[in-house]
Amino acid sequence: MYNFQYKTALITGASSGIGEAFAEQLAAQHCNLVIVARRLERLQQLKARLEQQHGIKVTVISSDLTQPSAANDIYQQLQSQGIQVDVLVNNAGLGHHGKFIEVPVGQQLATLMVNINALTELTHIFAADMKARGQSGAILLVASIAAYTPIPLFATYAASKSYVLSLGQALNKELKADNIGVTVLAPGGVATEFMDHAGQTIDDWRTKAIMSATDVAAEALTALAKGKAVIVPGVLNKASAVFLSHAPSVVKMAAGEMATH
Ligand SMILES: NC(=O)c1ccc[n+]([C@@H]2O[C@H](COP(=O)([O-])OP(=O)(O)OC[C@H]3O[C@@H](n4cnc5c(N)ncnc54)[C@H](OP(=O)(O)O)[C@@H]3O)[C@@H](O)[C@H]2O)c1
Repeated sequence: MYNFQYKTALITGASSGIGEAFAEQLAAQHCNLVIVARRLERLQQLKARLEQQHGIKVTVISSDLTQPSAANDIYQQLQSQGIQVDVLVNNAGLGHHGKFIEVPVGQQLATLMVNINALTELTHIFAADMKARGQSGAILLVASIAAYTPIPLFATYAASKSYVLSLGQALNKELKADNIGVTVLAPGGVATEFMDHAGQTIDDWRTKAIMSATDVAAEALTALAKGKAVIVPGVLNKASAVFLSHAPSVVKMAAGEMATH
C-alpha cells in the first residue's frame, strides 16, 4: 500500500468538486499539497483552511491548463522552490454538451488541451522526475465512465476520456518497473459544478446514480494506494462499466445515446 503521509501531492482542478475533495482527504492523511487551477481566490481559501486544520504545507499555483506552456511552467515553478512531487492527481477537466458542429471549435480544443494535452505533459514530466529521483510515486488520471462508449452530444468529451483510460491502463503496466503506480478513476455522475459548466441538465432516473465528490475521492485514493489500474466508484457505475466493456458496439452506441440528450 502506498502511504501518502509526509509526501507531496500535486492536484490539478483543486478549486472545486472532486479535486477539492482530493485535497481535503490527502491533507487529512498529512500529505503536503500543491493545488492548481485558475481561480486563485478559491485556492488561497483552501490553502488557509487545510494548513490550519492539518498543519501541512500547501503551495498554490494559478494556472490555465489550456496554455501550451502550462505544464512546464508548473514544473519550473516547483523546481525553483525546491518542491518535489511524489503524487500527481490529474483531475482538472471539462466538457461541453451540445451538437458537435454547434459548440464552438475553440471550446472543444480547450477541452482537449486540458483533458488530454496538459494531463499527458504533466504525467510525462513528473513520472520522469519520480524515476530520476529513484523514488516510488503514484499518479492518478481522472477519466469518466464516458470513456467506455462514444456519446453523441458529448462527443469530444467522451473521446478525450477514452484517451485518458487507454493511456492510464498502458502506463499502469509500463511504469510498474519504475515503482510508479498509475490508476485511472472513471466516475459516473458526481455532484459538482461540472454539469453546470458543461451546459447539461440531468432530471430523470440518472440523478439516482449521482455520487458525492467525497465518496468518489475516497474510493479513488484507496485504489491509488493499492496500485489498481482502474477504479469505477459506485456499484451501479461498476456494473455499467463491465457491461459496456463487453457489449457489442451496436449496444454500446445505444447506451451512449441514452446517456445524453
Ligand atoms: N462531475 C461529474 O459528473 C464527473 C463525472 C466523470 C468525470 N468527471 C471528471 O472529474 C474531474 C473533476 O471535475 P468535477 O466534477 O470536480 O468538476 P468541477 O467542479 O467543474 O471541477 C473542475 C476543475 O477543473 C479545473 N479546470 C477547468 N478548466 C481548467 C483550466 N483551463 N485550467 C486549469 N484548471 C481548470 C477547475 O478549476 P478553475 O475553474 O478554477 O480553473 C476545477 O477546479 C474532471 O476531469 C471531470 O471530467 C466528472
